Amino acid sequence: IESDYQALSQWAANYVAKRINQAKPTAEKPFILGLPTGSSPLGMYKALIELNKKGVVSFEHVVTFNMDEYVGLPESHPESYHSFMHNNFFNHIDIRKENIHILNGNAEDLEAECANYEKQIESFGGIDLFLGGIGPDGHIAFNEPGSSLTSRTRVKTLTTDTIIANSRFFENDVNKVPKTALTVGVGTVMAAKEVLILCNGHNKARALQHAVEGGITQMWTISALQLHPHGIIVCDEAATDEL
Ligand code: GLP
Repeated sequence: IESDYQALSQWAANYVAKRINQAKPTAEKPFILGLPTGSSPLGMYKALIELNKKGVVSFEHVVTFNMDEYVGLPESHPESYHSFMHNNFFNHIDIRKENIHILNGNAEDLEAECANYEKQIESFGGIDLFLGGIGPDGHIAFNEPGSSLTSRTRVKTLTTDTIIANSRFFENDVNKVPKTALTVGVGTVMAAKEVLILCNGHNKARALQHAVEGGITQMWTISALQLHPHGIIVCDEAATDEL
């Protein structure tokens, strides 16, 4: 538990940098990092950009896999997760473009795209560290309530709650929010060697309570983290209101 969002973001960035540096990645044995979008990780991305500029950490031998992407939104749309990641992170660090992996929500065969994504992750020997946020309803990536806790990358229909929550990025118009997304599964996240979840603000307090004090249930998919041998949640004071 960190005091506020700034402290949480710095803590997470330092942790990621430490893990990458400990692994001493090379071109032959890169560090495999799972990444989220959303407002929660923005501060961490800013802090990581600073650490990269200062030479504290390099992303030269880091391979990334993003958690999710909307279906049918052009990559160039300002709210696509492609745009988000490039604008807020990738364009400002020393990562190699060929090491970036983001699901293609415009693929002709979405199921093949998802199956191939799992294969690509596997070809690197799995994810070393998966970073994530939590939706107010306790979802991780786009694994909405009811998602199987062993699910893998697939197409998911967004819940009304998520569409309303994300409409703030689409001129507050729910009709402009895509209704489906491609997302890694709960099982994909849980298969990572380590998982670090960022959780801030009072509107996440209920989700955090279910995540750590509730039972393990598909209705709060983040609760699966209780079964992970190396699962960490970093949160601010406001998010602990219901604990
Ligand atoms: C979306 C994303 C999730 C993210 C969640 C919370 O649903 N698919 O990965 O955790 O939003 O977003 P925020 O961090 O903006 O609260």
